[in-house]
Amino acid sequence: DAEETLEPRPPVVTIMGHVDHGKTSLLDALRGTDVTAGEAGGITQHIGAYQITTKDKQKITFLDTPGHEAFTEMRARGANVTDIVILVVAADDGLMPQTIEAINHTKAAGVPMIVAINKIDKPEANAKKIRERLLEHEIVVEAMSGDVQDVEVSAKTKQGLDTLLEAIANQAELLELKANPDRAAEATVIEAQLDKGKGPLATVLVTRGTLKRGDIFVVGTQSGRVRALLDDKGRQIKEAGPSMPVEVLGLGGVPNAGDQLTVVENEQRAREVSAYRTEK
Ligand code: GTP
Ligand code: NA
Ligand code: MG
Repeated sequence: DAEETLEPRPPVVTIMGHVDHGKTSLLDALRGTDVTAGEAGGITQHIGAYQITTKDKQKITFLDTPGHEAFTEMRARGANVTDIVILVVAADDGLMPQTIEAINHTKAAGVPMIVAINKIDKPEANAKKIRERLLEHEIVVEAMSGDVQDVEVSAKTKQGLDTLLEAIANQAELLELKANPDRAAEATVIEAQLDKGKGPLATVLVTRGTLKRGDIFVVGTQSGRVRALLDDKGRQIKEAGPSMPVEVLGLGGVPNAGDQLTVVENEQRAREVSAYRTEK
């Protein structure tokens, strides 16, 4: 085989934290910084994963994984799509049970973490106390001379968002994330459902190669052909490269989160791969 040409790819960031600490609010606020979002306020989320382009023209993919169960479930299925975890801790509430769980899951996955101390706008906010409590869990943040980046933010006032984006960019640079865009695509199913009008739908994250309209693929044990690809704003696109989340139409059935989608050369090969996966 010829040597693969690897090119830089955007980081895939998953946001975790205790209930009501502001994960969704923070994601919405970050989406609001997307230079491609336009001023129409059209930030309707069509899929549970999206990509923003920062002022510095850097792309970042965010996964809106609801809860740690999904993260752990995906990991159990061998689907490690997350490059960076953002641990959201509400500055007025501190470390709570699901915060600790998120810390443990992240450590187990060996994924680098950035701590976002959210709700810093609140009068009761106590960032110092959070840093001290994190120390008890062997997380030494930069503010305490450690190497875990911590950023004070407010999803409400938008304070600290640029610093958080910089922290993500810094971490991503250290990871030297790369993938070959010029090959048959492989992708991981993030979520899937049966849509009454469109049929089986899956939101996938391309891990290598470029997924194109017309591609024949196997996902889980089912085969299909890409009938349409929709980006996170619901727009039809022709192809999706590494780290890009995209909604796929043209599946034979509804796959499971964590299933691998593999593009193959023809229908014969699709049947073989599907049969092989069914036996396994
Ligand atoms: P779950 O998905 O239910 O676990 O919650 P979540 O972590 O996504 O929190 P969500 O974004 O739903 O926010 C919970 C509440 O906190 C909402 O009422 C938000 O308006 C509020 N909130 C979120 N971020 C901030 C913030 O930075 N400052 C203030 N004052 N309130 C915030
Ligand atoms: Na909530
Ligand atoms: Mg939420």
